[in-house]
Amino acid sequence: MSTPTTTAPSSDHIMGVYNRAPLAVERGRGARLWDTKGEEYLDCVAGIATNGLGHCHPRLVEVLKEQADKLWHVSNIFRIPGQEELARRLTDATFADVVFFTNSGTEAIECALKTARKYHTAGGNPERVEIYGFDGSFHGRSYAAINAAGNPGYVEGFGPRLPGYSQLTWGDHEAIKAAIANPTTAAIIVEPVQGEGGARAMPEHCLTGLRALTREHGVILIYDEVQCGMGRTGRLFAHDWAEDAAPDIMCVAKALGGGFPVGACLASAEAAKGMTVGVHGSTFGGNPLAMAVGLAAFDEISKEETLANVRDVAGYFNQQLTGLKDRFPDVILDVRGKGFLIGLKLVPVNREFMALARDQHLLVAGGGDNCVRLLPPLNLTVEEAREVVEKLEKTCEVVRAKAAT
Ligand SMILES: Cc1ncc(COP(=O)(O)O)c(C=O)c1O
Repeated sequence: MSTPTTTAPSSDHIMGVYNRAPLAVERGRGARLWDTKGEEYLDCVAGIATNGLGHCHPRLVEVLKEQADKLWHVSNIFRIPGQEELARRLTDATFADVVFFTNSGTEAIECALKTARKYHTAGGNPERVEIYGFDGSFHGRSYAAINAAGNPGYVEGFGPRLPGYSQLTWGDHEAIKAAIANPTTAAIIVEPVQGEGGARAMPEHCLTGLRALTREHGVILIYDEVQCGMGRTGRLFAHDWAEDAAPDIMCVAKALGGGFPVGACLASAEAAKGMTVGVHGSTFGGNPLAMAVGLAAFDEISKEETLANVRDVAGYFNQQLTGLKDRFPDVILDVRGKGFLIGLKLVPVNREFMALARDQHLLVAGGGDNCVRLLPPLNLTVEEAREVVEKLEKTCEVVRAKAAT
């Protein structure tokens, strides 16, 4: 590969858990990033589906600056008006009645899992503790999150697995039915569209079926919409595409803050009935800075024009990328995902493809099942999408030429 993938020496004092690209980013605007050498890149990573409105969206910058002059932090022992406002926006837009704010997706997942088990304890069923996740999922890096997802690479070497966590296989309907009918089951947790797992969308009728079954057996249904939520699929939440599929609990983060760290665990009043004073909390969760940016991001993302743009440009992408797959079957095996959570399953190793795309000044994210993901900002224009496709085409040509040598 012409671009090295080793860690730069200047990263020496950073714990070595990241396989960083050799790119030091200095500034960004919309879907563009510039490195410290002034080189421009088209950004289809967007902070891994986090900068939903692109870099330095003027409204987000404005509200953050305004809030920085007013109040940064007070702790959750006081009322925080911004929290109440954003919670109202989120509950008005969803099945939920209450919200717990966090700083990250992982913390939202922790809250969801605790809420589910506490619901059963509060209901007089403390034996209901089993949590079932799905293979290929990603829910974050805390102990509970890695145990819920069960990816061996993330669980091994960290001591015994937590009890009460198992994984189901997508499409194994009999096993799914048995797990839900198990009288000690507390909850099922699922990403309606898997992100890290390689842009795998659960069919809509399966979400509807999961909802019906979990309801029938009194099992809590948790959606992890940390990556696929907040407009990424062209609806505000990915499960909105499915009929009668609203969960009991849902985790949101990433684009919720448009790049400012914030997450949220949403729940129905019934599901949250065990979450009483003192059983959970956070120092920073929902602080005024995060809430100011979160409110502005929510208002922009929930606009019909933003969501329609995702649907329209995703349609263009789908058509163009399918064409690319047909022209380069030696490079692209599959085009999948939903909206702007797009996966290209590749023949070459995905990290090599990412480095070659970077040579074309295009940034794409990796993913499971040897995919690369395109996760552009939701306001990407068709012209920018055309540029993305051109750069991908050039990358495919380079891959083909290398394979021939
Ligand atoms: C689906 C999903 N859940 C949870 C997380 C964890 O979020 P965070 O990294 O903000 O803790 C991620 C992060 O990539 C994610 O994609």
